[in-house]
Amino acid sequence: MSNQTRIQELRERKARARLGGGPERIEIQHKKGRLTARERLDLLLDKGSFREIDSFVVHRTRDFGLDQQVYSGDSVVTGWGTIDGRLVYVFSQDFTVLGGSLGEVHAEKICKIMDMAMKNGAPIIGLNDSGGARIQEGVVSLAGYADIFLRNTLASGVIPQISAIMGPCAGGAVYSPALTDFIFMVRGSSYMFVTGPDVVKAVTHEEVTFEELGGAAVHAEKSGVCHVAADTEADTLYLIRKLLSYLPQNNMEDPPFVDTGDNPLREEEALDTIIPDDPVKPYNIKDVIQLVMDNGEFFEIHESFAPNIVVGFARLGGHAVGIVANQPAVLAGVLDIDASEKAARFVRTCDAFNIPLVTFVDVPGFMPGTVQEHGGIIRAGAKLLYAYCEATVPKLTVITRKAYGGAYDVMSSKHIRGDFNVAWPNAELAVMGPEGAVNIIFRRELEKAEDPVKRRAELVEEYRCKFANPYVAAERGYLDDVIEPRETRPRLINALEMLSNKRDSNPPKKHGNIPL
Ligand code: HXC
Repeated sequence: MSNQTRIQELRERKARARLGGGPERIEIQHKKGRLTARERLDLLLDKGSFREIDSFVVHRTRDFGLDQQVYSGDSVVTGWGTIDGRLVYVFSQDFTVLGGSLGEVHAEKICKIMDMAMKNGAPIIGLNDSGGARIQEGVVSLAGYADIFLRNTLASGVIPQISAIMGPCAGGAVYSPALTDFIFMVRGSSYMFVTGPDVVKAVTHEEVTFEELGGAAVHAEKSGVCHVAADTEADTLYLIRKLLSYLPQNNMEDPPFVDTGDNPLREEEALDTIIPDDPVKPYNIKDVIQLVMDNGEFFEIHESFAPNIVVGFARLGGHAVGIVANQPAVLAGVLDIDASEKAARFVRTCDAFNIPLVTFVDVPGFMPGTVQEHGGIIRAGAKLLYAYCEATVPKLTVITRKAYGGAYDVMSSKHIRGDFNVAWPNAELAVMGPEGAVNIIFRRELEKAEDPVKRRAELVEEYRCKFANPYVAAERGYLDDVIEPRETRPRLINALEMLSNKRDSNPPKKHGNIPL
């Protein structure tokens, strides 16, 4: 055989592999409004940067007619490429081949690329579109999943792991994405569930559609499984690129610095009047975030889940930061179970990847009631407390208004290793709000008062002047400073740069025991 023939054969083999399940199945995929595994990689990665490996791998199963269905590369495309010039490893499940189902060699390909990502310290991105464990391969498929779960767990906190759900993701298969740092979903065309509608009907007699059971809306709003939901596949892939701009390649590196062009000394007069005079009136904390951060840009995570707390990424003077902010516009910014878990998870993600935390505090406390108590708010609140306590990244805290009760301690207070803690002049740091406090400590006096309404108002005012201000805390050094709201941006950037060489650590241990 001549060299030319051999090269021709190679070209033909590669071209066959690139077709996956073939033109007909590609057409079916397109008709469903979905892209193919390779088309997705083209959109995700820098143009022309993708390098595929293992495109000659084939499965070894001969049972149930699979010997007649052998596809070069099997049902997943793996390799590496770049995003904004930075190396990433990828796998993209190919639904056109045996429904993207995961058998022995599919799992081996994913494990190989995950091992490479770990060894070389770069993020791994998985694009999921699969019918789950390959039924014909039986327990071998389950073993393949377990091999991936183990790697997901060992890679956790070492390299960023990002999952995009682009089609079905069912059964135990959901647990690989669930072990990763971020899950993206496509509205209307992706779903995740442990048991599908048929099993649900047989067991609980509930009638439910795929979308109602595990669509993007459900997981973005109710379960919190999905971190970012987008309208189209292209949007989803674009948002993954954007997210990566805030993350380091691995836990030994810092996130990339980006010159955003925004003036670090910019003061914002509008912040001086953003808090309403009436302390029970809401305002939108996202307006504060927008005015303070570089070019007003904010990459929100979990936007629709537990919106009483806001988390996400932004830049301050070009440095990536993770923001946690109580949202007075929703449930007065109260901390409930979902909000506590959402923020705890985010704080730990930032800490794992050396991303400084900026916390905006305006919190009336933890949510009262049997639903919350019986649902385990003690455990959930403890997770947030634990996450902030153990975090050793720079921690900057701005109290914009209320910091009441246990929530004051939890929200990155000085006492749990806050590095730079400041308040705006209208901040109220106290065990509880003036009304509640007066009701308790002056109950007897009010019962005897000639004009209880007038006396109550006087006592509330007295309490407010004495305790509901930032100066009691500032006198004790619990606050490093009280600042004018307009100075917030330059002061935060200055503090961030002051803390750029921060060194702090926790006692040596196998691992802590966060109250899960
Ligand atoms: C083998 C599979 C498959 C699977 C789909 N296919 N899922 N082959 N193993 N798990 C094949 C189909 O037979 C079909 O082949 C082709 O892929 C396309 O599938 P369709 O059914 O035509 O596609 P669609 O109508 O879009 O339906 C998609 C689907 C459905 C909803 C995902 O295929 C489905 O319900 N699949 C089974 C899902 C499931 O129960 N998986 C096991 C989950 S448990 P042909 O040749 O006919 O076109 C699990 C355990 C993991 O994964 C445990 C880890 C611990």
